[in-house]
Amino acid sequence: MRAVVLGASGQMGRALTAALTERGVQVVPAHRGNGVDAYAGTGLDEAFTEADVVVDCLNLNTQSAGRARDFFGVTSRNVVAAMNRAGVARLVCLSIINAASPTVNAKFGYYQGKAVQESVYREALGDRVTMVRSAQWFELAGQLLSTVRLGPVAVVPHMLSQPCSAADAAQAMADAVVQPSGDIQVAGPESIDLCNLARRIADRDGAPRWVIGINFGGPAIRRGGLLPTGEVITTVTTAETWLADST
Ligand SMILES: NC(=O)c1ccc[n+]([C@@H]2O[C@H](COP(=O)([O-])OP(=O)(O)OC[C@H]3O[C@@H](n4cnc5c(N)ncnc54)[C@H](OP(=O)(O)O)[C@@H]3O)[C@@H](O)[C@H]2O)c1
Repeated sequence: MRAVVLGASGQMGRALTAALTERGVQVVPAHRGNGVDAYAGTGLDEAFTEADVVVDCLNLNTQSAGRARDFFGVTSRNVVAAMNRAGVARLVCLSIINAASPTVNAKFGYYQGKAVQESVYREALGDRVTMVRSAQWFELAGQLLSTVRLGPVAVVPHMLSQPCSAADAAQAMADAVVQPSGDIQVAGPESIDLCNLARRIADRDGAPRWVIGINFGGPAIRRGGLLPTGEVITTVTTAETWLADST
């Protein structure tokens, strides 16, 4: 099997590339660093030649609804057009549990971008696309500690999630690439406020000294709108284990 991984140099792209390679898949890494720009639409035709499946792990770090909607809308439309030109049968797209729900994303610009991405792919590809909707990753709590930071103080949003490790999500995603399936949800074993997890990371590392929790992104984000409902693949790594292993 030949799989193009869009965003192969990113956090999930790297973990997924390793998980697919373990499964005997030939991975074609695709990102701007190696000449593939999914936003400009350049390099896609070459990368998609002879591919059996395309995997979208692209990302833009933004909280601007306009920028997120534009990035995910343009890239997904370019990917669909290139898939159709190259005759690629399937796409697996990495998304986020409930991010496409208007209740959840009304005040969360980045998730509005993910909603656009999901809808472009679904409308254009129908059942040729598998959505892998993951919960937030434990790693996100660490990233949030440096997003709004003033010396010893970090400001972190309350987000009630059932987070999992990026490595566990990559394993579930690799299975979905190798063994075509319907949409899947992947989440960790327990519900946690990511702000509390960020505090535990700060305690472990000795910095930042103060983590201030804030309400950001609308009430659904902190009141359970991000939790999975229905069938879900529950990953094994707990926050406790991840905290001990990720130093
Ligand atoms: N963080 C979480 O908790 C979480 C949870 C569930 C799902 N997700 C989803 O997982 C996906 C991947 O996130 P991540 O954190 O792994 O991403 P990331 O580390 O920010 O990496 C983004 C990747 O996209 C590539 N890229 C960006 N713009 C590009 C362009 N125009 N053309 C081609 N490649 C481009 C980057 O490479 P270059 O810069 O070299 O182009 C990089 O390889 C996102 O869609 C996110 O919504 C995240």
